[in-house]
Amino acid sequence: MSIQTLKQHDPATTTIGILGAGKVGTGVARQAIKAGYRVLIAASGDPKDISLIISVMAPGAVAVSAAEAMAAADLVVLSVPLHKFRTLDPAGLAGKHVLDTMNYWRDTNGDMPELEAAPSSSEMVHAHIPGARLAKSLNHIGYHELELDARPAGAPDRRALAVTSDDGQTRDLVLGFVEHLGFDAVDGGSLAGGAAFEPGTPIFTGSYDRPGLQAELLAHAAGATGEGRELAPAH
Ligand SMILES: NC(=O)c1ccc[n+]([C@@H]2O[C@H](COP(=O)([O-])OP(=O)(O)OC[C@H]3O[C@@H](n4cnc5c(N)ncnc54)[C@H](OP(=O)(O)O)[C@@H]3O)[C@@H](O)[C@H]2O)c1
Repeated sequence: MSIQTLKQHDPATTTIGILGAGKVGTGVARQAIKAGYRVLIAASGDPKDISLIISVMAPGAVAVSAAEAMAAADLVVLSVPLHKFRTLDPAGLAGKHVLDTMNYWRDTNGDMPELEAAPSSSEMVHAHIPGARLAKSLNHIGYHELELDARPAGAPDRRALAVTSDDGQTRDLVLGFVEHLGFDAVDGGSLAGGAAFEPGTPIFTGSYDRPGLQAELLAHAAGATGEGRELAPAH
């Protein structure tokens, strides 16, 4: 990918490598294919095991191994269950632009006390893949809404999604990616700011246009919302 301005990249010359071939992974793949990206997608095992389902669920995407997806991607999308984050290969992701779409759900992921030290779950993920250039987005939209809510730029009912990262180039690339998928992309600042759109927050449960999302992000930054994650088991 030879990109001067990552925000204005050309999908035709950009490869997306998706780790996770489940609901979100295939949903992102479908939208990315529509937008003109080359899409590689991997589950945890042999690509032959998912090639049929990928040909049905995301026609045009290519089933590959996780190692191949990471190596070839200009942007790697992480869409695996959060409790599997330690199965991600730090060496394969080192130096890569990486988009974390993952969320913490206690019923699915179990207790994860390591989240206590993380402003957003993305910091916990980043501690495992410190060489990755990490951004957070697409976690606050249902997998089915990726298609249902996508609109062309300028549509009056276009939904907005937030993007956070500590890396300016990665943030720009992901802002552009989200726009190409069919959403107004809003810069939510540093990776820690992703706490504003995790489960339990108004942004996570709601649907906003650009001004509405910007207002919610500001309200969260000002401490105006009282939401928070449940990290400890319920007694
Ligand atoms: N469901 C939603 O609407 C939604 C929306 C936004 C965000 N999210 C978040 O997105 C993530 C994925 O959710 P999902 O609903 O798509 O899960 P899912 O349907 O259970 O799919 C998970 C996928 O991850 C794969 N996987 C596990 N470990 C892997 C690894 N190390 N490398 C590559 N692939 C691996 C699994 O493959 P194997 O079968 O080979 O293990 C499976 O294909 C979760 O963190 C979730 O919280 C979900």
